[in-house]
Amino acid sequence: MKGLVLSGGKGTRLRPLTYTGAKQLVPVANKPILFYALEDLVEAGVSDIGIIISPETGEQVQQETGDGARFGARLTYILQPQPLGIAHGIKIAQDFVGAEPFILFLGDNFIRGGIVPQVNAFRNEAMDAQIILYEMQDPSSMGVAVLNGDGRVQRVVEKPKQFISPYAVIGIYMFGPSVFDAVNNIKPSARGELEITDTIQYLVDKGLNVRAHKLADAWVDTGRIGDMLEANRLVLDIMESKNQGTVQDSIIEGRVILEEGARVVSSKIRGPAIIGKRTVVQNAFVGPYTSIHYDCVVSHCEIEHSIVLEQSCLENLHTRIADSLIGRNVQIKHAEGPTKTIRLMLGDFSQVGI
Ligand code: G1P
Repeated sequence: MKGLVLSGGKGTRLRPLTYTGAKQLVPVANKPILFYALEDLVEAGVSDIGIIISPETGEQVQQETGDGARFGARLTYILQPQPLGIAHGIKIAQDFVGAEPFILFLGDNFIRGGIVPQVNAFRNEAMDAQIILYEMQDPSSMGVAVLNGDGRVQRVVEKPKQFISPYAVIGIYMFGPSVFDAVNNIKPSARGELEITDTIQYLVDKGLNVRAHKLADAWVDTGRIGDMLEANRLVLDIMESKNQGTVQDSIIEGRVILEEGARVVSSKIRGPAIIGKRTVVQNAFVGPYTSIHYDCVVSHCEIEHSIVLEQSCLENLHTRIADSLIGRNVQIKHAEGPTKTIRLMLGDFSQVGI
């Protein structure tokens, strides 16, 4: 079985971060979201993986993931010259996939419990396709599936305007070779894309066996800041404490990971939290559900429930930063003025005076 990971797209909902970086490389607990997908595939016994990349961010993705050896995988890069849809990604991967069944994993989807049970079910039962469903109150921003009585898929609609079912179709799909007939025959949707939902509907309409697995564990489509913070919470919640750094005159409460060379001086860290390589935290408070990436400085300030990307500097702030996603090389420093709570979403290389 092969794997196909989509890592293109423009990431418009995470701008300005995605002006300079791929959305799939935004870190969750100091690890790019895309890495979790690769690890999930390898854990499920799938190591021959194609990554669909875009001209804008493909080089960056390749730089981060390399030949895949660090994941125990072999990676092949496939360029999608234009963002023509998920099903178009399948179409251009036909040579890579060949006649094997495969797992399609959207690189911005995060699933806490991995995909081993679903992959085993797909391997062991004769199906033409398997989708994974996540029950939501309002799935209208997703593909949505309607099932018939025996767990087979009856209908799949992309972002339905009317409520048809509570089951969102998550971005992890399993297909047999019949999917190529579908992607080569469907037409672009109103948004100009070859839709994955139309692909699945095509298979259903042909009378093929398309099954659905209802997910009990957590899933996040990390398109927006709130979703990134949620994925970050989910990962930090299950990480074990580890100290590869140094702690001086500080209080460490709960589960805290200090990566290699991290330094905590005269500060309080209340986990779950992770402090990246060579990052310095001094005279500061880092609260629960915070991930601070490598080579950052957090000094004389307070931060909680936030993600900070590499090489950023937060200094001398009189207000606590919360619920924020802060890009690379950002500098936030004190400026004169009244104190108040602020909510930030800052792009790479931003500079803010507070
Ligand atoms: C895409 C699919 C949609 C699916 C979602 C999962 O949506 O088109 O069917 O439910 O991924 O993340 P998009 O990200 O293109 O809005």
